[in-house]
Amino acid sequence: MEIRPALHAYLEWPAQQNPMRAATVAVIEALAGAAIELARTIAAGSLAAIGGESGGINPDGDRQKTIDIIADRLMRDALRTAPVAAVVSEEMELPEVLDADAPLCVAIDPLDGSANLENNISVGTIFSIRPKTRDAISTFFEPGTAQNAAGCFIYGPQTVLVLAFDQCVDCFTLDPRTGEFVLTGRDLQVPPDTPEFAINASNRRHWSGAVRGYIDQCLAGVNGERGQDYNMRWIGSLVAEAYRILMRGGVFLYPADARQGYREGRLRLLYEAHPIALIMEWAGGAASSGRARILELSARSPHQRVPLIMGSTRAVRDVDAVHLTVEPLFESSDAPLFARRGLFR
Ligand code: F6P
Ligand code: MN
Repeated sequence: MEIRPALHAYLEWPAQQNPMRAATVAVIEALAGAAIELARTIAAGSLAAIGGESGGINPDGDRQKTIDIIADRLMRDALRTAPVAAVVSEEMELPEVLDADAPLCVAIDPLDGSANLENNISVGTIFSIRPKTRDAISTFFEPGTAQNAAGCFIYGPQTVLVLAFDQCVDCFTLDPRTGEFVLTGRDLQVPPDTPEFAINASNRRHWSGAVRGYIDQCLAGVNGERGQDYNMRWIGSLVAEAYRILMRGGVFLYPADARQGYREGRLRLLYEAHPIALIMEWAGGAASSGRARILELSARSPHQRVPLIMGSTRAVRDVDAVHLTVEPLFESSDAPLFARRGLFR
């Protein structure tokens, strides 16, 4: 019978290697504990009376649900028990310093896709871990290559943890019988050749010529330049899209567009694009803004947005190639301006 190690047992060996890895493992385990509790609350749905609006608005302008607040509290309380110097959360305007002497900094989206919850669609928690550099706060303004681990918990038909650690992406499933995450997928690789794309097509008229050009090529199917028929998926929940791409391949795009407030796309660099990009790259895929590698970009502010194209390397390169033939939509958005030093650095 196949032996499936539990998360704690699986991380025991790396934790013994050096203090930085031990600290990183402590953060992952603290978050896993909070995720198990959050999964239970989410699974109770209407029974837990968590569906309502809290009345608050998060720093990026999204309406906060009660469950967003619960998730944020659970995750930040867990991080207080781990060696974390500072945390950036989607639900807080500014970074919070926890223990300035601790070795790690964490950026977190406590409940990604929470607007989907009332429809019983998968939601998740995304996290990004990086060693503290000069001081806790400036660590967040280093490029995404500074991350030493990242991952996401997905609360769906199964609760899973996708973990990028030690250059490798593994998957763990929460066993409801024991309440433990156990290893169910080792060294995941993004399937390279799936003709499938994901984009919110209702925004087509606002896209740049590059994005429209690429999607039109996909839609033309066997008769078009790409020479094959494409399938389309759009869940509206980033964690679920990332998981599907890890399992099935394909490409996901949330580009910049001409709507007010979308000049740098929709997704946030520190706690959405950076960690998802680390997962994609360590699983043999890629992530780009269309004009720059996501992991080479640095945030100018905690809630910095960025266009995100992720998935199989070939598909992401194809989207990049179309961008090269077209002028940027806006000077400041899908051009890699903030690969340079920004205001906060
Ligand atoms: O966190 C932002 C998010 O909810 C993602 O999970 C998802 O990919 C995206 O927004 C969906 O955006 P839209 O509603 O514009 O399609
Ligand atoms: Mn999110």
